[in-house]
This record gives sequence, C-alpha cells and structure tokens, in this order.
Amino acid sequence: MVTKSIVIMRLSKDVNIDPIEFASQGNAILGIRDSGKSYTATYMAEQLMENQIPIIAFDPIGIWKNLKIGKKGKGFPVVVAGGDDGDIPLTPENADDIVRAAMRENVSLIIDLYSIGLSKNDWKRIVEKCIRLLLYENKDCGLRHIFIEEAAEFCPQKINPGQGAVYAEIEKLARMGGNASLGYTLINQRAEEVNKAVLELCDCLFLHRQKGRHSITALGKWLDVTDTSNAKEVTNSLPSLDQGECWVWMQGSHKPMRLKMPEKRTVHPDRKNPLAVHKGISADVGPFVERMKLLLDKIVKIPVDRRERRSEELNPTHHKRDQEVEDLMNECDNLRSKLQLEQSVRIALENKLSSVREMLAPDFDKMKKIFDEISVNNESVSDDSNIRRIWLPKFSGKAAELLEALIAHRKLDRAKWCKLTGTVYTSSTFDRSVSEFKRLKLISKQGNEFILNDL
Ligand SMILES: Nc1ncnc2c1ncn2[C@@H]1O[C@H](COP(=O)(O)OP(=O)(O)OP(=O)(O)O)[C@@H](O)[C@H]1O
Ligand SMILES: [Mg+2]
Repeated sequence: MVTKSIVIMRLSKDVNIDPIEFASQGNAILGIRDSGKSYTATYMAEQLMENQIPIIAFDPIGIWKNLKIGKKGKGFPVVVAGGDDGDIPLTPENADDIVRAAMRENVSLIIDLYSIGLSKNDWKRIVEKCIRLLLYENKDCGLRHIFIEEAAEFCPQKINPGQGAVYAEIEKLARMGGNASLGYTLINQRAEEVNKAVLELCDCLFLHRQKGRHSITALGKWLDVTDTSNAKEVTNSLPSLDQGECWVWMQGSHKPMRLKMPEKRTVHPDRKNPLAVHKGISADVGPFVERMKLLLDKIVKIPVDRRERRSEELNPTHHKRDQEVEDLMNECDNLRSKLQLEQSVRIALENKLSSVREMLAPDFDKMKKIFDEISVNNESVSDDSNIRRIWLPKFSGKAAELLEALIAHRKLDRAKWCKLTGTVYTSSTFDRSVSEFKRLKLISKQGNEFILNDL
C-alpha cells in the first residue's frame, strides 16, 4: 500500500510525472537496441519504488536483478525469482505461487526468465499464469506496476499458435488492469512488432532512437492520427537521438517532450563490458525471502488438485471465464493452423492444375475440333435417319426412289437426280413427287438444286 507522501517524478525541467498516474496506466518504451529502453524502464521502476509502489518485472534478458545493487547507497529491496543467482528458484509450476507470496509480503519482484533451464514456451506459461493471478488477486493488495521486457514475445502483432493464451492475459491486463489496481509498461525494440490493439491502449509513450523506415513510418502515422503538434520534428529526430535520450508523450498532451533520462540510483549492466563486477551495495531481502519460502512451502504442501479447487472456490466465475477464454484461444490457434494448411494444399492443387492445363493446351484445340466434327456428323446421321425412318415408309414407287437418292446425296439438281433414279426428265411423276416433298417441307430449292431439309 502507498503510505509515504508522493514525490513527483521529475524527468526534466519541463516533464514531471505523477508516480501514481504512471503506475496505474499503460506505458510503452520503444527504441532500437542499445538506445536506452531498459535504462529508462528501470529508472521509472526506481522512482515507483521510491514512492512505495511495488513492481513486478518479467525479464527475459536478466538485467532487472541489478535494481538490488545501489551505486552509492543500498539498492532496492527486490526479490529475484529465477535467473542464475536468484533468491528463489523459478519454474512454470511455482511462478504464480511466487507472485502470490510477493503480493502478501508487498515486496517488489523480478521474474528473471534468463535461464538455460527455461524455454520460450516456459516464459509464456509463466507470464500467462502470473498475469492471470495478478488480475484476479491484486485488487485488495494495492497499486502495483508490471514491467514486461521483450513485450513482442508475449503480445505480438502476429499471434502464432501457442501465443494465444499469454496474449489473452496481456490484452486483459491492458483493458481491465485498472480494476485490479494494476498498470503496466511494455518494452520493445520495434513498435510494429507489438500488438496494435494493446499498444493503442497505452497512455504514455517513451520513444528512444529509431532507425528502421517501417518503425519510423508507423510511429509517424500514429503521431499524425493523434494530431500531435510537433510530429515532423519527432520523426525527423528519431534516428539521431543519443543513448538515453527520448521523446516522452503523455496522455492528454499534443506535444511530446524531448529529454535525456536522469541517472539511475542502481547499477546498469555495461554492454561494452558485460562481465564487469558491480561493487555496489546490495539491498538485503533475506527476511522477505525467508517468509516467502515458508509461504511457498505451505502452498506446495497442499496437493495441486486441492489448490486448484480452493482457488476455484474463491473465484468460480473468473476461473470458468478464464477456462472459456483459454479454450476459445486454443480453438482459434487450431483453426488458424488448419486454415493455413488448407490454403497451402489449395495453392499446391491450383499450381498442379495450371501445369496440367499448360501441358494439355496444344492437344486441346485438336481434340475440340475432332469432337465438333463428331457431333456434327452425329446430328446429320440422326437427321437422315429421321427422314429415312419416319418419311421414307410413307412413299412408294418412284417417289420413294427419288427421296432415297436425295437422302444419300443431300443435294441434287433435276438432271442428276433423274439420272440416278432412272426417271424421265420431263415426266409428271417427278413433278408430282417433288411438289409433295416440298409440301411436307422435306426439301427446298436453292438455285437449280434440291436440298434435303434438316428435320
Ligand atoms: N539515460 C542514460 N544515462 C546514461 N547511460 C545510459 C542512459 N540510457 C542508456 N544508457 C547506457 O546505454 C546502454 C544501453 O542501454 P540499455 O541497456 O537501456 O539499452 P536497450 O535499449 O535496453 O537495449 P536492448 O534493446 O539491447 O535491450 C547502457 O550501457 C546504459 O548504461
Ligand atoms: Mg534492454
């Protein structure tokens, strides 16, 4: 709980931040490698702890433990879980119990994920479990601030299978953290890697040096949309900011302010000399650690199923809702990977089909021609056969002979037709037969020729 009087955080002569406001809101610190993000974040953490506001930091890079080591006087009393030389060992199984114990002791906690024994999946499980617990159990413990280094690991813009559950918790933290007296700070190199929906909920931005065209364009668009008065000045200066220099853009302000972050009280690892021994004075967290270990022992002695039942009893709806959200996120993950699989199968089939089409193209025209001819012949065969089947039996004698000859030749002139059938050229039999064929529309005349009609 905050007991001491609040000291406003003075970042420069023009920029003062109320620690309670900072601690209870969403913040983001962005900038390229070595630009000073972690320095800024740990400086802000120092200021919060000066104001008795406890912090929890999720640290995949193993530098936050140095908050314990002061440069001149003592460092801050933070308990370090995990890492090479932490106060308490950290596993995905005990992470939430450690957070619960730290909350009861009201002590600041570093979850040091930088360990050869922890995989990236373990990181996600740990962050997911801890944030879920904080969201449901911190409310009565007072204001607390969460720092998340390498934020894109946990709330990426593109959510891959396996990241849904941890993303869901961070998204909840961004939307509803205020109800649980929680604020947060996301730290990441590139703005575009962090999920937009979460980043857009941040109230305060610290923009350190940026070089990438995409990052600067993304930030520029953002500044334009929010009607920032000096957007051009900010984006133009981003590539040339010094180490530790940044633009601070606070909620409600239309003008980001440029400043150099003040000096920290605790040691910060030196990039150029990572093995340098820090001779500072370490804060003593022994008593906290002893009490937390006792508490953890007690928790561990309760069988897991009873612990789960107990926490379900305390928060039945939350747990049910949690489970539902997790199930939905997992289902989303499954559907997304199925869709990707189906899309790749479809693309492979389409490629195959178009290569088969290309291969057959030269033969296709030939085949079409053959089919067309076959169908024309079929039609004419069927027409001839109609006349032969239906009409020919209706005639006899010379008329039948004349019709049969025309069926065979389809068109004939009078002379040829008479010659073929042995009919006298001037006979009335020929004229009578022809006029009967015409009346029945079996034939028509074109010039000198008689043509068999299609029926
Ligand atoms: N405000 C500052 N005053 C003095 N030194 C600073 C300041 N900010 C950063 N530095 C120095 O710059 C170096 C890099 O800082 P920091 O570790 O914060 O970088 P970073 O942006 O977090 O890099 P990375 O993305 O690799 O984690 C450190 O050695 C640190 O001591
Ligand atoms: Mg860093």
